[in-house]
Amino acid sequence: MAAKKHKQPSVTVGQQTELEITGLGHAGEGVGRVNDFAIFVPGTIPGDQILAKIQEVKRNHGRASIIKVIRSAAGRVAPECVVAGDCGGCQLQHMAYESQLEWKRQLVVDALTRIGKFEEPLVQPVIGMAHPCGYRNKVQYPMGLVGGKVALGFYRRGTHAIVPIEECANTHPLCNKALQVVSYLLAEIGLVPYDEITGDGLIRHLVCRVSTAHNQLMVILVTNGKEVSGMAKLVEKMRAALPELVTVAQNVNTKRTNVIMGEKTRILWGAPYLIEELNGLKFAISPRSFFQVNSEQAAILCHKVVEYAKIGQRTRALDCYSGTGSIALHLAREGAHVIGIEVVPEAIGDAKLNAELNHISGAEFRVGRVESELPGILEEGSVDMAVLDPPRKGCESEVLGALLQAKIPRLVYVSCNPSSLARDLAILAEGGYELREVQPVDMFPQTSHVECVVLMSTRSPRRIF
Ligand SMILES: C[S@@+](CC[C@H](N)C(=O)[O-])C[C@H]1O[C@@H](n2cnc3c(N)ncnc32)[C@H](O)[C@@H]1O
Repeated sequence: MAAKKHKQPSVTVGQQTELEITGLGHAGEGVGRVNDFAIFVPGTIPGDQILAKIQEVKRNHGRASIIKVIRSAAGRVAPECVVAGDCGGCQLQHMAYESQLEWKRQLVVDALTRIGKFEEPLVQPVIGMAHPCGYRNKVQYPMGLVGGKVALGFYRRGTHAIVPIEECANTHPLCNKALQVVSYLLAEIGLVPYDEITGDGLIRHLVCRVSTAHNQLMVILVTNGKEVSGMAKLVEKMRAALPELVTVAQNVNTKRTNVIMGEKTRILWGAPYLIEELNGLKFAISPRSFFQVNSEQAAILCHKVVEYAKIGQRTRALDCYSGTGSIALHLAREGAHVIGIEVVPEAIGDAKLNAELNHISGAEFRVGRVESELPGILEEGSVDMAVLDPPRKGCESEVLGALLQAKIPRLVYVSCNPSSLARDLAILAEGGYELREVQPVDMFPQTSHVECVVLMSTRSPRRIF
C-alpha cells in the first residue's frame, strides 16, 4: 500500500499569520488552515478571525496561540474564569453553552460514523445543565512553588507548570472555599510542596470532595511519605476554619508517577466517607472511590440507564465497572437482581454499604477485574441485561468477547470517551448487536468532554425497544 502523503508544512515556529477558524478539533481547539495545512488554536471557535503565532509545527499539523482576535465568531462569549486562557481544565468556556451542546452531539455522531462505521446513528440532543457552572464535586489541585511561594492550582494547558488559582467557575463553591483556606494554612504552617523533578518535598496534591446534597466537605492530602510533621496542627486549623468539613484523610504516594493517589489512605479526622444523594438514593463515597464529578447530571444519567435497561421484577442484570454502586442500586431499586463488578476494593466496600444504607437487598458486589470475573459470572446463569461503564480507554477485548458469547439481550454502555465507545460498539455490532439509541449527557460543561448512554440489543425478531 502506498504511504499516505502529508501536506508540507507551510508555516514555521514563531511566524505570525492571520487565520480564519473553520472547525473544531476533538479536544475543543479551533482549526484553521494555511495553504491547506491544519493549525490548531486553543481558545478559538469556528467563525473567529485571528492573528496567530505558530508555536509548534509537526508533519501533518501545527499548533498556534492567539495574539489578537480580529473578528469574533457569533457564538463567542467572555469566559467566566480569569485563568481560562492559561489553565488546562476548560477548553470551551469562550463558546456559548448552546453551541457547546451542539458541538458535543456532533463529536459523538462523528466518532460513531468515522470510527464505528455506523450509518446515521440515532444520537439524541445532548442533555445540558440549566446552570452550567459550579458543578464539580471533586477537584484535585497539584501543589508546588510558583515564584518561591507555595501555590495550589491547575496545570497550565499541556504542561506540568502550576497556574495558581483562588477559585474555579466550574467547581462547587465549597471546594473553592477549601482551596483558599488550605492554601493559606499550608503556607502558614510551612509544609513543603513536592517537587516533581527532584522527588523532594512532602505535599503533592490537595483533593477536595463535596456532597452537594448535604453541603459537606472531604479533604484529602496526598503526601510523599507517611510522616508529616505539622499535620495535626493543619487538621485542627482546617476544622476551625471549615465548619462543613466532615473528613480529613491522608493518602500516601511516594512513587514518581503522574497518578495522583497512592494505595494507602488513612482517615486523620472525621467520618470514613461522605454521603451524596442521587434520585433519593444515598451513596457513601470514601476517599479513593470513583463517583461521577457532576451529581446533578449523574442523577439524569442514572435515570436514562434505568429507562434503557427496562427492568422487570425478575431481571438478572450486571453492572460492570460498578464503582460505589450508583447504577447497580438504581437497577436493583426497580426490582432487578444485580451483580456489580469493580476492581477497587474500597469502592466495593462503599457499594455494599450503600446497598445497606438504601435497604436494597437485590444487589451483590464482587471485587475484581471485569476481564477475569465476567466469564465465571456468565457461566453461573443467564443474564437479561448488562451495563458497561468502563474507564476512558473502554473495554478490554476479553470483556467484549465474553458478552458476545453470552448473547445478553440488552446492553447499556455508559462512556466518557466517544472514540473508545465507537470502537467497542463497532465490535459489538460486528458480533450481532444493534445500536438502538445514544443519549449524550453534558457531565462536564465548559470542557470538550461528553458522557454518553447507549442502548444496544441483540438482533432478534422480537421487538425489544
Ligand atoms: C467510569 S467509572 C464508573 C463507576 C460507576 N459506574 C459510577 O457511575 O459511579 C469506572 C470504574 O471502573 C473501575 N475499573 C477500572 N478498570 C476496571 C477493571 N478492569 N475491572 C473492574 N473495574 C474497573 C474504576 O475503579 C471505576 O470505579
